[in-house]
Amino acid sequence: MAREQWGTKLGFMLAAMGSAVGLGNIWRFSFVAGNNGGGAFLLLYLVFVFLIGIPLLLAEVSIGRKAKSDVIGSYQKLAPGTPWFLTGFFGVFSAFLILSFYAVVAGWSLYYLFHYVTGDFFQAPAEGGYEGAFGGFITQEWQPLFWSALFMTMTIVIVFSGVKKGIETANKVFMPLLALLLLALAGVSLSLDGSMEGLSFLFQPDWSALTQPSIYVQALGQAFFSLSLGMGALLTYGSYLSDDKRLPGAAVGIGLMDTFFAVISGIVIFPAVFAFNIDPSSGPPLVFITLPSIFEQMPLGGIAGLLFFFALSLAALSSAISILEVPTAYFMRLFRWSRTKASVIVGAIMFFLGISVSLGFGIWSGITPIGERNILDSMDYIASNILLPLGGLSMALFVGWYFTKATALKAVDFGDNVIGNVWYGLVKYLLPVMIIIIFISSVL
Ligand code: PHE
Repeated sequence: MAREQWGTKLGFMLAAMGSAVGLGNIWRFSFVAGNNGGGAFLLLYLVFVFLIGIPLLLAEVSIGRKAKSDVIGSYQKLAPGTPWFLTGFFGVFSAFLILSFYAVVAGWSLYYLFHYVTGDFFQAPAEGGYEGAFGGFITQEWQPLFWSALFMTMTIVIVFSGVKKGIETANKVFMPLLALLLLALAGVSLSLDGSMEGLSFLFQPDWSALTQPSIYVQALGQAFFSLSLGMGALLTYGSYLSDDKRLPGAAVGIGLMDTFFAVISGIVIFPAVFAFNIDPSSGPPLVFITLPSIFEQMPLGGIAGLLFFFALSLAALSSAISILEVPTAYFMRLFRWSRTKASVIVGAIMFFLGISVSLGFGIWSGITPIGERNILDSMDYIASNILLPLGGLSMALFVGWYFTKATALKAVDFGDNVIGNVWYGLVKYLLPVMIIIIFISSVL
């Protein structure tokens, strides 16, 4: 059977943007920034996105386009008889870890959407407010699992129907919708009393935060997670691209779009966090408490909430399919499984892994695998701060050192000119060195 391909370059761009823009930009960005002092973190994150993220994104997509295979097969094809393919396992492994907690959080988003549809969340519950409502929900056993299962089912269905059509069209409508809603929400959030404090938290770096070694790992992890880098999601998407589509513009477009969503959601969240006296370091629940509080303050807030959680769930879905696609593509080739069989089996395993994540907020909250971290935070830590950067490092080394310079430049459609050489220098030297230094400093 011939390998599938994107209809158009725009289709690829939308799918890649759909992969990049997701819970990472809104949910993860705000609590990681909140935990790491705000402004200094944002700055570091931006530096990493532009210096490491976008150049690497280009490299990652190019490996897939050149090899036309999955994350492990691509290395086997381009570097036969070498151990390079082993690095592809970082990607498959991180896909399992990430989607199992991603589906839990996306399930929370669906639950909120449902309660905006019924109107229950138009006003904060009299007792305990949104904080109480959220806490009461995630600590239960069955309810969150139901929503997570529903989300996983939707993801699987899209992946086995061969992706494209549905998600391409959906993204075309919902990405702009999400952007518009975020802009409107930013307006409301900025008009709240006490919003200035939030803005200075986000934009006035407290330089002393930079003396904390962990901020570097966190910012790097966030850049990787948010750009969908290092797992092979973009590599796999790139493998459905024909050789005549030029890559550099697409890579920059994806990177800029993703950054835009992160910065805007910071402008939505932090003014509200301070206006409503919420602790910016309250972790993963952060947006699920602040956002409904903002909606409640706005005219037609109930409708805005409904649209917002609809768009957020969709953004999560378009990211989740790209994660599921990584092991699905691998197992289809390895075991000659059909797309349906591979996606159902992989998705089901991920869902079962996710059960522990969900229970980690309730009856299993005493389980803290890494330090003080609960199950979600621990899995996220291993995947985002360790596996994704390692996957990215191996991609950079592969393109920078295994390829000849001419092959590398050709793979990304650059000529041997200034831009080409800057990119090559970044990928070959600066990027690996930075990733390695950040790594070592975080273990010391
Ligand atoms: N980038 C996605 C988000 O921001 C998550 C993701 C991570 C997707 C890694 C694919 C690979 O939500």
